[in-house]
Amino acid sequence: MIRNSYSLRTRLVATTLLLLAIASALIAVVTTISLRQFLIHRLDDQVRASNRVFIRAEPGSPPALVVPDRGPRPPDTLTAVIRDGEVVAAAVFPIGEDPRPVPESEYPDLLGLQDGRPPRSVDLGELGDFRLLATRTPLGDVIVSGLPEAPVQATVTSLVLIELVVTGIALAGAGTAAAMVVRRELRPLERVAATAARVSTLPLDRGEVSLVERVPDVDPRTEVGQVGSALNRMLDNVGSALEVRHESEMQLRQFIADASHELRTPLAAISGYTELTRREELSADVEYSLTRIASQTERMTALVEDLLLLARLDAGRPLERGEVDLARLVVDAVADAHAAGPDHHWQLAVPEEPVVVPGDGSRLAQVLANLLANARTHTPPGTNVTVALAAERSCARLSVTDDGPGIAPDLLPHIFERFARGSTSRSRDNGSTGLGLAIVRAVIAAHAGKVEAESTPGRTVFTVSLPRAA
Ligand SMILES: Nc1ncnc2c1ncn2[C@@H]1O[C@H](COP(=O)(O)OP(=O)(O)OP(=O)(O)O)[C@@H](O)[C@H]1O
Ligand SMILES: [Mg+2]
Repeated sequence: MIRNSYSLRTRLVATTLLLLAIASALIAVVTTISLRQFLIHRLDDQVRASNRVFIRAEPGSPPALVVPDRGPRPPDTLTAVIRDGEVVAAAVFPIGEDPRPVPESEYPDLLGLQDGRPPRSVDLGELGDFRLLATRTPLGDVIVSGLPEAPVQATVTSLVLIELVVTGIALAGAGTAAAMVVRRELRPLERVAATAARVSTLPLDRGEVSLVERVPDVDPRTEVGQVGSALNRMLDNVGSALEVRHESEMQLRQFIADASHELRTPLAAISGYTELTRREELSADVEYSLTRIASQTERMTALVEDLLLLARLDAGRPLERGEVDLARLVVDAVADAHAAGPDHHWQLAVPEEPVVVPGDGSRLAQVLANLLANARTHTPPGTNVTVALAAERSCARLSVTDDGPGIAPDLLPHIFERFARGSTSRSRDNGSTGLGLAIVRAVIAAHAGKVEAESTPGRTVFTVSLPRAA
């Protein structure tokens, strides 16, 4: 009934008021019409009575205009005598005053009355509306009697006024009461909405989540209470599902961590025995096989170490916390990179003074090593690589820029995901596994920092920002 874009509260109150107004209007109209009809009916009875009074007062004698003074007479009675189609006399008789003659201009109205018909409303100009009745005497004269309608109209008008005032007050009162009742009844719904809103802001996507939010004070006997308890049951369900998910996630992480850890020992043994065997006099074939075994073992060891580190970071294993001078780390890392990749041009832009951040030194060194290894292994010899470090007010910003061929646009959005790597033969040849940047992101995230990559052919930049205060 009321437009849907308004709130439920507004619509309920407005609908209540509208229905109440319609009902009141209906009652008022019916009451007014009935009262008016009743009053006119009574007036007609009085007109008939005064008419009879007149005729009985002057039976048989030539009609003369006299006021019947037997019995009580209503005020402002109109009496007129018509003989041979002409008005002989016509006047209104107030009580205690002289009779007022009916103006001649109204005579045609009097002459228009037919005798023997029920009383009729006639507008007599300045005298107002009258109910008039005409009767023929045995002598052939027509006697007209009438009473003014003004008192009836006054009564009806005052009734309408009273109805308007009472309806207005009733509507105002009902509106206030309805607003209060609706507000009270809808309060539980607001609690449901508030709970749902709080839950929607909870970070449910990772880690251990305790879903303790519930709709308070639900009364399952009411419809709104049923919504609340349905939401609570749903939250119970979601909460236990999240617990199960967290548990299985933890088990998986533990499994990866355990497996990686267990793999370290046999891998170390294989490397050791390979090394021992290579010291013997060997044929060229065996020598070659052993070299391959050694390099594959090395690669697998690196992979296992990476997996172990990621599993530990996933499990939220606390990092070592210390003061790390990034400037030192950068200088050392670039020196290492220079040794590993002498065909690349390495450039440094590091401030003179130390840039200290809180964190785990060896993990941050690994971040640098991974970024520089990428700049070295995924670009051709002769590429310029610039490592820049800047201390800003709240964070330290480190960037590694190279002018190599860049990262493929379809790989770029996934570059920090595990096992995401380029498909070029260069990447494969380098024995790349696609874990390097995943580790960078996990370590930086554990330091509450941020890492971003942008790349176009000829310019690839990795930017790391780390907060300077713990
Ligand atoms: N500086 C760069 N220039 C061009 N491509 C890059 C650069 N850095 C990363 N990439 C691309 O991003 C991919 C993912 O890098 P990431 O370090 O995660 O793995 P990876 O280097 O392939 O293997 P890993 O580092 O585990 O040995 C790489 O395979 C490479 O295709
Ligand atoms: Mg890499």
